[in-house]
Amino acid sequence: MSFRAGQVLTDVEIGPVAHGGHFIARHDGMVIFVRGALTGERVDVRLTEVNRRFSRGVVTAVRTPSPDRIEPACPIADECGGCDFQHIAPAASRALKAQVVNEQVGHAISARFDGPLEEVTPAPFGWRTRMRYHVDADGRLGLSGHRSHQVVPLPPEGCRLAVPQIAHPEVPEVHSGQLLALVAVDEVVVADAEDAIGTVTERVGDREFQVGVDGFWQAHRGAPQALVSAVMDGLVPVTGEVAADLYCGVGLFAAFLADAGCRVLGIEGERAAVELARENVPGGQFLAGDVGVLVDRLPAHLDLVVLDPPRAGAGIDVLAAVMARQPRAIAYVACDPAALARDLKAAAAAGYHLDSLRGFDLFPMTHHIECVAILKPS
Ligand SMILES: C[S@@+](CC[C@H](N)C(=O)[O-])C[C@H]1O[C@@H](n2cnc3c(N)ncnc32)[C@H](O)[C@@H]1O
Repeated sequence: MSFRAGQVLTDVEIGPVAHGGHFIARHDGMVIFVRGALTGERVDVRLTEVNRRFSRGVVTAVRTPSPDRIEPACPIADECGGCDFQHIAPAASRALKAQVVNEQVGHAISARFDGPLEEVTPAPFGWRTRMRYHVDADGRLGLSGHRSHQVVPLPPEGCRLAVPQIAHPEVPEVHSGQLLALVAVDEVVVADAEDAIGTVTERVGDREFQVGVDGFWQAHRGAPQALVSAVMDGLVPVTGEVAADLYCGVGLFAAFLADAGCRVLGIEGERAAVELARENVPGGQFLAGDVGVLVDRLPAHLDLVVLDPPRAGAGIDVLAAVMARQPRAIAYVACDPAALARDLKAAAAAGYHLDSLRGFDLFPMTHHIECVAILKPS
């Protein structure tokens, strides 16, 4: 049977969740990644993309709903690219995400992740302190659509994921089409994305950080504290140890390692972030540039390493260079469980086993997951 995009398939049975937030269905020999579904449901699916190996589709009608299905709180949840899990009860969503971590990690290194995915407050709404909004041709504020550049205008009540102060900021008269909105300790900044300069002060525990308005900072209000606690609990730093914070941003983990008495070295690609890291962690030493290149400039021995790479993961070469320095523990902070699983497999082959794994729901109402893995020499 041949299929085409736009075709609606009726009464399709939905199988397990897949990495990336889609649910797998099989129909007449075709594998379909379905958005907006839930395991065990029978739904109608409109095909949005038909490929040789798999297709993509979206639910148009739910014939037999899952008990975990809820009514999305936001009227644009279906079109907006932000919230692909708004139709799932939060506890069920965390269980599904734990299942994804278990499947990825289990496949790579035959370890189990039994969860649970830890909830971090605020949740499930009002958690996002960083927003990038788009302005459409009619001057309406919105977010980009799912797998599209089309702007989906915000409902009057604004984006529910955002902290209330930036849920629906005013659109300035002159703008480039994109706005950054963020909430720091006691500041709200709304700036044109092409003119976002300056810094804000963030606080984690009693530590303050200067962060660039257009620079990286964890998006969930509770994320910095949750991740710092997980990393510090996993590494248990001791005064006098030498620690590296790779992909260090403005020095979040470096700061707490330095406060614990470690000699800290950091590497970060964004030069502006490195300058702020030097201010935030005066005792640390920071290098600006690609970790893949600069990792060779680290000392021949390290006691502790934190890796917090972007979605692609640290990769085998960076890991090999880190493990060659024989740290007694590595904390790997990962926002993509597939990249993490690939790197855990490479680490296991080189003699570093997974000592513990925690998962955090730092992106409620979406399929995204944050993990902290602690690796130790076997
Ligand atoms: C997930 S963020 C983590 C930042 C920091 N650890 C924090 O939690 O605030 C990843 C960081 O890696 C940086 N980065 C991405 N690719 C890089 C590379 N190849 N070399 C060095 N830094 C890189 C980004 O600029 C970003 O600051």
